[in-house]
Amino acid sequence: MGKREPIIAANWKMHKTVAEAREYVRRFRELVEGFSGVEIVLAPPFTALPAVREELCGTAIALAAQDMWHEPLGAYTGAISPLMLRDLGCQYVIIGHSERREHCKETDELINKKLRAAFAHGLTPILCVGEKLEDRRAGLTQAVLERQVRADLAGLAKGDVARLVIAYEPVWAIGTGETASPQDANEGAKFIRALVAKLWDEATAQSARIQYGGSVKPENIAALMAEENVDGALVGGASLDPAAFAEIVRRARG
Ligand code: PGA
Repeated sequence: MGKREPIIAANWKMHKTVAEAREYVRRFRELVEGFSGVEIVLAPPFTALPAVREELCGTAIALAAQDMWHEPLGAYTGAISPLMLRDLGCQYVIIGHSERREHCKETDELINKKLRAAFAHGLTPILCVGEKLEDRRAGLTQAVLERQVRADLAGLAKGDVARLVIAYEPVWAIGTGETASPQDANEGAKFIRALVAKLWDEATAQSARIQYGGSVKPENIAALMAEENVDGALVGGASLDPAAFAEIVRRARG
């Protein structure tokens, strides 16, 4: 314990033009200058990746995409491949976000293919899992997490799982202003870690980083990070403002 580097990621979703993205990064990099002990990741929309990469030059802030297709190239109109993301300097890629599961009907089978493709091309996935409100009310939170983790990670090599980032994002807490309590966040993360230990081994489970996501803000990040199994956060709404996101990163350092 205590060896996992915290990782705070901004998921801009479908926000910001190229000019807005540049402006954001110019401000943000000044605000976090000199910060250490936490890995920072920005996931702009595809269209802003080259500009954000340029503006991040000379910083340790990592670049992520919000999704990708699972083939390196081919007849997949509208899709973006892992090779293209590598070419743009991405280190990370968000996979299986609940908005893609819901609006784009992504299945665990597809998500598993995307995870394999990400690792095969040197990208580190940030895999999102989480239960819906009706699951939680029906007492099915752990059953849903288990189903997703088993299916999404099926067949992955131990070494890949060890460097994976998993974001535990209860769907009911995303964009709703309703954050899971730090205890609920820790329970979810702990359950996922125990499952990874069961499916692979304890060392692998201790090495994988587990973020919490869902209405993370400057006001609640410290309490979330104080939990043993929460290694970071995936931040949507509050990451759109550079000052708010910088404050989240600052408070996450403990
Ligand atoms: P939110 O989104 O912070 O706006 O709740 C989190 C996410 O969807 O990753």
